[in-house]
Amino acid sequence: MEIQTFIQQCQARSNLILKQALPKVEGDASRLYQAMHYSVLNGGKRLRPALVYATTIALNCPLEQGDTAACAVELTHSYSLIHDDLPAMDDDDLRRGQPTCHIAYDEATAILAGDALQALAFEVIVDNKGPATSDANKLRMLKVLAESTGATGMVAGQAIDLYSVGKPLSLEQLKHMHSCKTGALIKACVILGALSTNQATEKQLVALENFAISIGLAFQIKDDILDVEGDTQTLGKIQGADLALNKPTYTSILGLEKAKKEAHQQHQNAIHALAIFGSEADALRELATYIIERNR
Ligand code: IPE
Ligand code: IPE
Ligand code: MG
Ligand code: MG
Ligand code: MG
Repeated sequence: MEIQTFIQQCQARSNLILKQALPKVEGDASRLYQAMHYSVLNGGKRLRPALVYATTIALNCPLEQGDTAACAVELTHSYSLIHDDLPAMDDDDLRRGQPTCHIAYDEATAILAGDALQALAFEVIVDNKGPATSDANKLRMLKVLAESTGATGMVAGQAIDLYSVGKPLSLEQLKHMHSCKTGALIKACVILGALSTNQATEKQLVALENFAISIGLAFQIKDDILDVEGDTQTLGKIQGADLALNKPTYTSILGLEKAKKEAHQQHQNAIHALAIFGSEADALRELATYIIERNR
């Protein structure tokens, strides 16, 4: 199957599941619910759900087994984007080709919508009635999501990103920031996908984790590159926003050519990490390539 077809299949599937998980737009808090729908069901690439699904396939399980994890990671990601765009953070007006949540609604609603989406991500894991529903497995999944998004994961990365504006970062510090702000959730996609099947051996988990660490880094490096080389229309967010805010990025610190080289190196590392898998992991391999070749 062409990777684009696979991604479209994952988009369609995760859109349905996300719609089901979101609260109905009714009652006294309906403006909040509307903002949640607005920020989730708005044409994201759904790369994180695709990684969950590709992982279930790599473990020879049907992709439906990844539904809950796919939903949880995309809810988390959508929350992170709402908060990332707030005036106190990146102060962006455009996201996925539309006004950002705080522009379309208001700042307080955007903060609350992010808060509610984050909580919902944990709730869907608890409510999971799929094949890997033992309490022990759910607890493991909750811990993975909490660790990857919390004070030593995504939120730490966002903090370092904000505190590093205008400061020279070493390559090691830059890598650490990227691994936290974007890599941690991407790693969680693959681990949660594996846990959703309850089929992964420890050896497979380690290989998948190493794969995910590399593609997570490659993903954020490519995001930095697209801020320089992409165009606003295709990106659905303002090109040049990092430069305007003097953000610490791979391109600002290493330059465009070295950033591209590093993205390719991480892609190679990712492919290498999957060596113990056969063709069942081809969707993961192709997603790794998509991550560094994408134009949005
Ligand atoms: C953008 O993520 C934010 C980063 C972590 C760099 P995506 O590029 O996956 O955004 P969507 O979900 O497709 O809008
Ligand atoms: C966002 O990184 C990372 C998280 C939301 C956790 P960026 O600030 O680079 O993402 P974009 O470029 O605004 O999508
Ligand atoms: Mg940011
Ligand atoms: Mg941003
Ligand atoms: Mg960016």
